[in-house]
Amino acid sequence: MKLGVCYYPEHWPEAMWAEDAKRMAEIGIRQVRIGEFAWSRIEPSPGIFEWGWLDRAIETLHQAGLHIVLGTPTATPPKWLIDAHPDVLAVDAHGRPRHFGSRRHYCFSSLTYRAECARIVEVLARRYGNHPAIAAWQTDNEYGCHDTIISYSNAARAGFRTWLAAKYSQIDALNTAWGNVFWSMEYRSFDEIDPPVETVTEANPAHRQDWARFASDEVAAFDRVQTDILRAHSPGRDVLHNYMGMFTAFDHFKLGEQLDVAAWDSYPLGFLEQAWWPEATKERFLRQGHPDFTAFHHDLYRGVGRGRWQVIEQQPGPVNWAPWNPAPLPGMVRAWTWEALAHGAECVSYFRWRQAPFAQEQMHAGLLRPDSVEAEAAGEARQVAAELAAVAGATTTKAPVALLFDYEAIWASQIQPQGKDYRGLELLIHFYSAARRLGLSVDVVHPSADLSGYKLILCPLQIFWPEGLSAKIKASGAVCVLGPRTGSKTDDFQIPANLAPGLAQELIPLVVGRVESLRPGHVEQAGPYKVTRWLEHIQSDLVPEAYTASGHGIWYHTDKVDYLACWPEAELLDAVLRRRCEALGLATLSLPDGLRLRQRGAFMFAINYEAEPLDLCDHILGADSLDYVIGGPDLPPAGVAAWRIN
Ligand code: GAL
Repeated sequence: MKLGVCYYPEHWPEAMWAEDAKRMAEIGIRQVRIGEFAWSRIEPSPGIFEWGWLDRAIETLHQAGLHIVLGTPTATPPKWLIDAHPDVLAVDAHGRPRHFGSRRHYCFSSLTYRAECARIVEVLARRYGNHPAIAAWQTDNEYGCHDTIISYSNAARAGFRTWLAAKYSQIDALNTAWGNVFWSMEYRSFDEIDPPVETVTEANPAHRQDWARFASDEVAAFDRVQTDILRAHSPGRDVLHNYMGMFTAFDHFKLGEQLDVAAWDSYPLGFLEQAWWPEATKERFLRQGHPDFTAFHHDLYRGVGRGRWQVIEQQPGPVNWAPWNPAPLPGMVRAWTWEALAHGAECVSYFRWRQAPFAQEQMHAGLLRPDSVEAEAAGEARQVAAELAAVAGATTTKAPVALLFDYEAIWASQIQPQGKDYRGLELLIHFYSAARRLGLSVDVVHPSADLSGYKLILCPLQIFWPEGLSAKIKASGAVCVLGPRTGSKTDDFQIPANLAPGLAQELIPLVVGRVESLRPGHVEQAGPYKVTRWLEHIQSDLVPEAYTASGHGIWYHTDKVDYLACWPEAELLDAVLRRRCEALGLATLSLPDGLRLRQRGAFMFAINYEAEPLDLCDHILGADSLDYVIGGPDLPPAGVAAWRIN
């Protein structure tokens, strides 16, 4: 467990570097990420390299005892490169190239750009690959940020055709899989197929799903060029990428397979403002962030990183990019840091060291103000650094609950929401929150993961149900909760021959006869439970546990499986999970919305997300006599407590 910071030596006079490095070390920072946007300073003109400044910056940080994560600068191709090779620019839905003047203006499919990336990464890796200060590499920066996964360039079109030909071999196979007889959409060759854009009404969902799969594979292929070079020239160093929050446009699990560590960029207040929460929730957690949103991503990226992950950008104060940018509560930066560490982060690294007085992010806080005086977060980072010893040796163990997360299912729910507010990611986090309210720790895993050892497996959005998954769940012995739309599509984006839940009928004997989506504000009462947004009409010999006034079962229960035939509101989810946990002997609590727990090895952590004090004794039996190593039962706003579990 350690702390880090993101630093841009190229933004500051060289005379400041040594003092900066000394101050970082004094705060307790051990890792520093540099370089990820510095292409124009490394190679100011084609083939002309300026290594001196970077040599000296690395040496200065090294001398202060800091480990370096060196970023490849490929998120920001410089002006000369764009002018020499305009074909590297991404192309928008109207066929217009993106412009130079910010960042991420490249197209993942451009082979010219991949060659340019290989060139710059190779010179960097050869020069610094064996430097003792280089602990890790970061490839690029935030793949997909600013909506940049999709590009409608000529290169992408050609790549898509090749990808389709490799997948289907014969054009007739594609026509059948997509159902192209519908509306005379049949093709005679792969060369006739375009990306699904600018069609008069919606394009074929199967076409769109394959396009999303292709675009996702392009990200991994683009990254692979860099990863291979880094591994060849910088042996023994970790290679990571920094993922984002609330971002699902490519399959992070697939990309994660070729990386050593998953890193992600955590901006709790910016995300709260951008996400779907109601106004009252946004107001309540204005300066704290949503209690489950950040934690969910920690658990997701631990899965993506196969256990190895970090927060490589942690919000330190107000940011510049959300519609509104409030300041965190005093203590909240410390609390966020502890939440990440509680979930198993290897490092929490603040973005950024010093607030820049110039350019796009001049309104974005750092640990230091532009005048080098410490901003509020610096003291909180110093406090965490001093506290780390209290939980030394904490390992990460398997949680009792697994939540299955499948990027392809999220794309399917976006391509065919069927109800305007059917948001896949929201549903996943909704289930996750239900487990957190009970005080349970959760692993977020891909359906292909090893499921042995879990007691409870949550499948809120498993729209595609892979062959073998039912058998694997049965073999795990776990109890399983299936959400609506489970198994409702084949891989080809068709309705299964035996109807939904398709292959999941191996787990529970029911058939979804039809579905309806419900407009906002419409509530169907099912006994004590509320149903909104989505309702399935089920045929089954099972007697439902609850049904609507019009007689539609919403909750089907067998000894090992629950099926929820609706968008479940919180009371229903709580009832389902609580009943299962009781039977499984899993202890549960009833935590208020602002109090959350997370176990890491022999330690339990509690974080107060309320702007009011909380007393743990009101929520946890015996909380006054726990073996506290950080804090105690009285949690101030943004308070943190940790205790040893016996
Ligand atoms: C991230 C990005 C950083 C910086 C930061 C500002 O998305 O990786 O470079 O822009 O946001 O919050």
